[in-house]
Amino acid sequence: MSMSKRRAAITAVGHYVPEKVLSNHDLEKIVDTNDEWIRTRTGIIERRILEHGATSDLGAGAIQALLKNRGVSANTVDLIVVATVTPDMFFPSTSCLIQEKVQAKNAFAFDLSAACSGFLFALVTAAQFIENGSYRRVVVVGADKMSSITDYTDRNTCILFGDAAGAVMLEPTDDPDAGILDHILRCDGSGERTLHMRGGGSLNPATHETVDKKLHYIYQDGKAVFKLAVVGMADISAEIMERNHLTGKDVDWLVPHQANLRIIDATRERMGLDKSKVMINIQKYGNTTAATIPLCLSEWWQTGKLRKGQTIVLAAFGAGYTWGSVLIRWTLENAA
Ligand code: UT7
Repeated sequence: MSMSKRRAAITAVGHYVPEKVLSNHDLEKIVDTNDEWIRTRTGIIERRILEHGATSDLGAGAIQALLKNRGVSANTVDLIVVATVTPDMFFPSTSCLIQEKVQAKNAFAFDLSAACSGFLFALVTAAQFIENGSYRRVVVVGADKMSSITDYTDRNTCILFGDAAGAVMLEPTDDPDAGILDHILRCDGSGERTLHMRGGGSLNPATHETVDKKLHYIYQDGKAVFKLAVVGMADISAEIMERNHLTGKDVDWLVPHQANLRIIDATRERMGLDKSKVMINIQKYGNTTAATIPLCLSEWWQTGKLRKGQTIVLAAFGAGYTWGSVLIRWTLENAA
């Protein structure tokens, strides 16, 4: 007797970005950098900054947009999973704060930490609850207020990051050829040395000294991370294609984490994809950590470019190190 597997499909998307724009030219006035360097080395032109409020406000904004798009009320949501490295506070979890803000009274909620791969780790985790039949409506959020942990005197990092949130809704589908079809997730904890924020946790609780040493800001050895990110993201994207017998022609969209245009390009080449098949909005938002991938999905859906039946590969690499790829057959009718 054959049993068709219940799959988790994305049935709505939404995003939120704050209004304030911080351009490369604005940054030229506060650190020794220039628009040309930032554009050619990263692909970024501007990013958004949340002036008032916290990560939960970004996340709540994305969920409200998503619920409107789906046309359902917040009290129909069973679970909210939030990926973030910039929680409002240590506890309660940001997901609980979001649950209150959007009034999802029947949902339980938890946070998950996997930095730039956070959305992929959260998506795959959330999908398990749908696939095993325990819940029917799960919201996955990637939200980060990176400006809250960015040192605006450090030109190595302050040009890279921005604030945003994106969200997707997962619901069950009986179509064995739709929704989340496959995933690969990996980590290598030796990455802590080159990409971290060491202050404020149980290792280095906040003191005057930790503040003086700038331990409450992102530290990144860009070159070291770059080398591994290029290989990690390209390899894991190629691997998920190979094991699903897909060539570049079979994939409609690569949805990459937006950390650096050169990393995205290397991944695309390795996958054998045409340039027109890559979602890129890094020029507008910079690296928004857990938000980059759902922000792309939401924007491309909104503009009608992401269409039902398309095959898409999500890919990310980030702190931990963590990295992963997810294969999806898109099930949502386009908005346009
Ligand atoms: O999302 C999580 C994972 N993170 C990533 O994937 C990020 C991976 N890394 C990167 O994207 C790149 O390494 C960066 C964009 C961070 C840096 O680019 P790079 O090509 O690796 O530059 P670099 O750090 O090797 O610096 C090259 C030069 C240096 O000067 P010297 O030593 O060659 O004289 C830097 O001091 O550029 C200098 N530089 C800058 N110049 C102008 C560094 N930052 C800046 C700046 N403006 N903002």
